[in-house]
Amino acid sequence: MTAVSTNAGREARGPSRRELWRWFLNVVRPQRALIRQGLFWLLVNAGCRLAQPWLVMHAIDDYLVGGKIGPGFWYVAWTFFGVSVLEMVARYSQQAVIERAGQRALLRLRCQVFAHVQRLPARYFDKSPTGRLVGRITTDVEALQEMFSSGMVTVLGDLVFLVVAVWLMLSLNVPLTGSVMLMVPVLVIVTMFVRTRVRGAYAAMRGRLSELNGFLHEQVSGMPIVQMFGQEQRRQDEFGTINSGVCTAQLRSVRWESVLSAATELLSSFTTALIVFVGGGMAIGGGEGAVTFGVLFAFVDYMQRFFVPLNDLSLKYTVLQNGVVASERILALLDEAVEPASPGPVSYAHGRGRVSFRDVSFGYEPGHDVIHDIDLEIAPGESVAIVGATGSGKSTLFGLLTRLYELDHGSIALDGIDIRELPLEELRHRVSLVAQDPFLFHGTVLDNVLLGAPERSREDALAAAREIGLDEVVAGFARGLDEPVAERGKNLSAGERQLLAFARVLVLEPEVLLLDEATANVDTHTEELLQAAVRRLMAGRTSLIIAHRLSTVRRADRIVVLHEGRVVEQGPHEELLGLRGVYWRLHRLQYGE
Ligand SMILES: Nc1ncnc2c1ncn2[C@@H]1O[C@H](COP(=O)(O)OP(=O)(O)OP(=O)(O)O)[C@@H](O)[C@H]1O
Ligand SMILES: [Mg+2]
Repeated sequence: MTAVSTNAGREARGPSRRELWRWFLNVVRPQRALIRQGLFWLLVNAGCRLAQPWLVMHAIDDYLVGGKIGPGFWYVAWTFFGVSVLEMVARYSQQAVIERAGQRALLRLRCQVFAHVQRLPARYFDKSPTGRLVGRITTDVEALQEMFSSGMVTVLGDLVFLVVAVWLMLSLNVPLTGSVMLMVPVLVIVTMFVRTRVRGAYAAMRGRLSELNGFLHEQVSGMPIVQMFGQEQRRQDEFGTINSGVCTAQLRSVRWESVLSAATELLSSFTTALIVFVGGGMAIGGGEGAVTFGVLFAFVDYMQRFFVPLNDLSLKYTVLQNGVVASERILALLDEAVEPASPGPVSYAHGRGRVSFRDVSFGYEPGHDVIHDIDLEIAPGESVAIVGATGSGKSTLFGLLTRLYELDHGSIALDGIDIRELPLEELRHRVSLVAQDPFLFHGTVLDNVLLGAPERSREDALAAAREIGLDEVVAGFARGLDEPVAERGKNLSAGERQLLAFARVLVLEPEVLLLDEATANVDTHTEELLQAAVRRLMAGRTSLIIAHRLSTVRRADRIVVLHEGRVVEQGPHEELLGLRGVYWRLHRLQYGE
C-alpha cells in the first residue's frame, strides 16, 4: 500500500492490512442491518439486469422472428416492463440504504476521531500542522465513507452480475462465450496497466490537496500580517505554484481515467463486432451449433453490460486505494498516545494550594532541556512573581504545572500530592491558567466567561465580570453579555480579551492561579482595570505570575528569577535589587530605573 504521508513514527510504518480491515469492519459493524438490506437490493438489481437481455431474447426468437405477436408476446413484454420498474426501485433503494449506512458509520467515526484529538497532548499539536489535522477529520473520513458506499458494497453486486452473466452465456452457447471471453484478459491487462497510473496520480493529488489546505489555513489566519509586511505578491506566487501542482496532479488522474474509459469503449465495440462475426458465421452455418437472432442480441447486450462493471471495478479500485490510504492515516492518528489516563478518583480533600517543584528538569526535544533542576516551594496563599528574559522557561513552568507537558525528571506536587496522581480534571480545576495570549472562542461574551463552568448562571458570570472590572467594558457593548465574540476574539481589543480571560478564571475559583501576564501595551485606563483585576484574582489564593509590569512584580510576596531555565535568584524586590545580579540588570533594562 502506498502511504503518501511523510509523517514520522507510526504513520510511516503503517498498520498492517489485517489490522486495517479489522478496524474498518469494526467501524461499519453497527450498521450491519442496513448493510444487509443494501445487499438484498443489490442482488435484486443484479437479477433484473441479468433478466432483461434474456427476456428480449425470448421475445425475438419465440415471437418476433416468426411474426407471432400473440398473448405470449405481451406476457414477455409486460414482464420486461415489470423487471425494469423493479430494477429502478432496487437501484434507488440500494443506493439510499448503503449511503445511509455509510453516512452513519462516518458520523460515528468523525466523532470518535474528534474525541481522540481532544485528548492528545500539547506535544502532538506542537508538531502537527492544523490544516493536516483538520483534513484527517474531514477529507480522510470522507474518503473512507466513499470507499464503503461506492466501493466495497457495490463491488459485490458487480461480481454477482459478472459471474451469473458468464454462466447464462455459457448456457446459451459455449463456443460463442469462449470466443468473446478472449476479450476479457485484454481488458483486464489494459485496466491493470492504467489502474496503477491512476492510483499514483490520485495519491499525488491528495498530497497536493493536503498541501494546499495547510497553506490556505495558515495564510488566511495570518492575513493581516501578510498584508502588513507586503507579502501578498510572494504568497500569491507560492499559492500559484501549489495550485498548479494540484491542477497538474488532477489532470494527470483525469487523463488516465479518460484513457481507461476510451480503451474500454473500444474493446466493447470490438467485442460486439466479434459476436456478430463469430455468431453470424454460426447462424449462417445452421445445423447443431446454430445461433438464433435472439441469442445474438442477448450476447451483445450481456457483453455491453459486462463492460460497465468491469470498467467500474477499476475505478472502484481507486476509490478503495484512497480509502486505504485514508484509513491508514486515521488509524495512525487514533494510535497516537493520548494524555496519560487519569488515575482513579482519589479521595482528595481540597487543600489550600501549596505548590512544590522538586528537582524538575524538562525539554521539549529529547536531550535539549529548557528547564534545569528547579526546586521551589510555594506556600498556600503566597504570591510569587516569576521574572526572566524571554525564552528563560517561564511559560514552560506553567505548562508543566498544568500537565500540558509531562515532566521528564523530578516531580511537582500540589498540597503534597504528586500532580501525576491527581485526575487531570481535578488538577486543571484547581490550578487555572491565564495564558499569555488568551484564546477566545466564537460565541458570546457569556459563553466565553462560562467556558470552564457552563453550568453556572448568568448571575455568576455577571458577578465575576463585576469583580474583574469587565462589567464596565460589557456595558459598552450593544448586547452586553450576549455580545458576539468572533473567532479567537478578533473583534475585541487586547485589553478586553485579557479581562475576559480573567473573568473566565475567576468563575472557576481556582486555588492556584497561574497568570502569564501579557506584554501588550494598553491605555492607562485599561491598564488600571487590568491591575485591579490582577489584584482581585490574586487575593486569597496561591498565585504564580509571570510578571512584566513592575507593579505586579512589586506586589508579589516573593520574586523568582529564572535564567536559562534555572532559578538564579529569589526574594523580595528590594533585596534582589541589592544583589546587583540578574534581577537588577533585568530591572534596569525593563524599567530604566
Ligand atoms: N512548544 C514548544 N516546542 C519546542 N520548544 C519550545 C516550545 N515552547 C517553548 N519552547 C522553547 O523553550 C524555551 C522556553 O520557552 P518559554 O515559552 O518557557 O519562555 P518564556 O520564558 O515564557 O519566554 P517569554 O517571556 O518570551 O514568554 C525557549 O527556548 C523556547 O524556544
Ligand atoms: Mg512565555
